[in-house]
Amino acid sequence: MTTYRVATIGLGIGQSHIKEAWAGLPGKFELAVACDLNADLRARAARDFGCDTCADFQAVIARDDVDIVDICTPPALHLSQVRDALAAGKHVICEKPLVGSLNEIDEIARAEAASPGRLMPVFQYRFGVGSLAAREIIAAGIAGKPLLATAETHWHRDAAYFDNPWRGSLRAELGGTMTTHAIHIHDLLCWLMGPVEAVFGRIATRIHPIETEDTASGTLRFASGAFATVSACSASQDEYSRLFLAFEHVTFESTRAPYAVGSGPWTITARDPAIQAQCDEIALKWTDTPGRFAGQMSAFHAALEAGAEPPVTLADAEASIALLTGFYRSAATGREIALPLAADDPARAGWHAPG
Ligand SMILES: NC(=O)c1ccc[n+]([C@@H]2O[C@H](COP(=O)([O-])OP(=O)(O)OC[C@H]3O[C@@H](n4cnc5c(N)ncnc54)[C@H](O)[C@@H]3O)[C@@H](O)[C@H]2O)c1
Repeated sequence: MTTYRVATIGLGIGQSHIKEAWAGLPGKFELAVACDLNADLRARAARDFGCDTCADFQAVIARDDVDIVDICTPPALHLSQVRDALAAGKHVICEKPLVGSLNEIDEIARAEAASPGRLMPVFQYRFGVGSLAAREIIAAGIAGKPLLATAETHWHRDAAYFDNPWRGSLRAELGGTMTTHAIHIHDLLCWLMGPVEAVFGRIATRIHPIETEDTASGTLRFASGAFATVSACSASQDEYSRLFLAFEHVTFESTRAPYAVGSGPWTITARDPAIQAQCDEIALKWTDTPGRFAGQMSAFHAALEAGAEPPVTLADAEASIALLTGFYRSAATGREIALPLAADDPARAGWHAPG
């Protein structure tokens, strides 16, 4: 088994990547270097993980002893850092949102095609006991036709959270609660229900003194004919995530764990006892699955070893960026937006671009 050496760039959520995956999966990965502009965070990483540290991203990607560059920096830096790390021949993992437009997705696709490295966007909610069981039941055709879904991301953020230069800034964060928080559950929703063909969205900034939205709601129509309602808020007093999916023969309801909605057993219900038994048998298979970053990074390791596609691909990130683009265009124009966008649609340049 190959042990891949990882450089984590950005030590906010990057610390969780390290704890859950790079330090948590010895043999598969080893943390080579932790990179951050902040000297205190570098010192803490050296103390907690016994790793080398560095403040200079370009120096890190030039190192021969780094196989994977794990990008956990603020959103507006992702495009250039992903491009540079792929150009340096590294495998690249990058936090969400991958980039800020569909044109930038195209740029990343060209960079990945020209590199020996593989790119894996982070969507760790897919790797949970509940979400993996649901995916298998749906893929096996047991659930039948998708009908209806509800995806709720109702979180609480305070002034301390926004006391960080990139958060709440359109230019640096790229979007608000839809982009930064609900992107996860909407990825899960589309992974389980299929591609979206129309979106209507509304956004508002009601509570926090920020440029980006803190409140959003919308409706989706899937190519299958199914519908979904989605809502996101970063000023909710109670804090939970919840995904409910109704299929012809089976309904799925996630846990309410705000940051691990895929984890924990989901409530999976069928009125037909034979179908319920099939669902229960599949759910049982997934009970020992490591969730979140450990699950996603383990699957990445397996893909690298097999020379296979990463478990989350650029196409998955593209679907998330396309949904955001349509959602924000709808909110700006008051119209329903059809997806996919045409190749010459000006909104491909970014959801805040005129169009
Ligand atoms: N998958 C998840 O559940 C999850 C959770 C939180 C954040 N995120 C995403 O992770 C990214 C980072 O978010 P965060 O909450 O950790 O932010 P953060 O501000 O807490 O941490 C970002 C770190 O990056 C460092 N940094 C900035 N520019 C750098 C550079 N050029 N080189 C090296 N380091 C640099 C900063 O000093 C900071 O310590 C964002 O894209 C965010 O959306 C994902």
